[in-house]
Amino acid sequence: MEIREVGVLGCGLMGSGIAQVAAASGYPVTILEVNKELLDRGLGNISQRVDKLVQKGSLKSDEKAAIQGRLHGTTKIEDLKNCDIIIEAIIEKVEEKNRMWRSLDSIVKKDAILASNTSSVSITDMMVATSRPERFVGVHFMNPVPIMQLVEVIKTIATDQTVYETAIDFVKKLGKQPVRTSDRPGFIVNRVLVPYLLDAIRAFEEGVGSIEDIDKSMKLGCGHPMGPFILLDFVGLDTTYYIANILFDEFKEPRFAPPGLLKRMVVAGWHGRKTGKGFYDYADPNNPKVMEHLKR
Ligand code: CAA
Repeated sequence: MEIREVGVLGCGLMGSGIAQVAAASGYPVTILEVNKELLDRGLGNISQRVDKLVQKGSLKSDEKAAIQGRLHGTTKIEDLKNCDIIIEAIIEKVEEKNRMWRSLDSIVKKDAILASNTSSVSITDMMVATSRPERFVGVHFMNPVPIMQLVEVIKTIATDQTVYETAIDFVKKLGKQPVRTSDRPGFIVNRVLVPYLLDAIRAFEEGVGSIEDIDKSMKLGCGHPMGPFILLDFVGLDTTYYIANILFDEFKEPRFAPPGLLKRMVVAGWHGRKTGKGFYDYADPNNPKVMEHLKR
């Protein structure tokens, strides 16, 4: 199987990153959004990121024009009919995703690969919404997509081996490093990362150290690029809470149970960097300060 054309569903943070990487790797990409406003915003974000690469000298301006020439935004689902792989990166709600998969089922080519970038929805729950579960995989990119090297490639009990190997090969062609995993909650990264993040919150609640000192410890003591609280704000507290609940629901182990503080912050609407408030206050995004009530 050869992948010649790529379709991306959703032009938010993850979808726009995936579309950018695919276009930069030489693939014509069709990106579907629900309306023109969201589409223009997502395409504008790609344009800004590519501009930055030109300014830094890591991309020539004719390469920028070539990348942009390969990106086609649309609000019409029929425009995905020629794509060889469809990568879904829409809202993390199984009903929304499956509504999209059901609509696409009669539009996309019979031998197209259907792939989801979900971090938390079961791939198996989505594949059953299509008439071709054997052509369904997960391809989970990390945030920020243009920078992070890893992509988890997820196989279900129904995935055809040739489809799976084609997806692995495609990820390599995007210049990323694939890892193989199965359809269990959290896959590899979140299975290991989420309990670590939850433990940092519990350590703070128990008075082990301040937010700054726990972050500093993991950065300077373990060489992590971000401490756990800055990373929680970066990933999103709502996303972390959601994934923790899914992990807890499956494994029933206390290490996956979301701490009360996390729940209260999610309920308060403090979802991290994207809402301006999380464990840190992002009033000045370049100089985040620990939230007043969390200072020790
Ligand atoms: N998009 C594109 N490029 C970005 C970017 C973004 N959002 N953020 C930073 N960059 C680029 C910068 O332009 C810069 O590029 P150059 O080196 O070419 O100049 C480079 O990344 C480094 O950026 P900065 O110097 O501004 O900052 P930094 O050194 O702290 O790096 C970072 C930023 C790459 C995000 C780094 O802090 C990091 O790796 N953090 C950890 C991120 C992480 O763990 N991601 C996975 C989250 S888990 C997940 O995604 C799975 C899930 O399901 C929840």
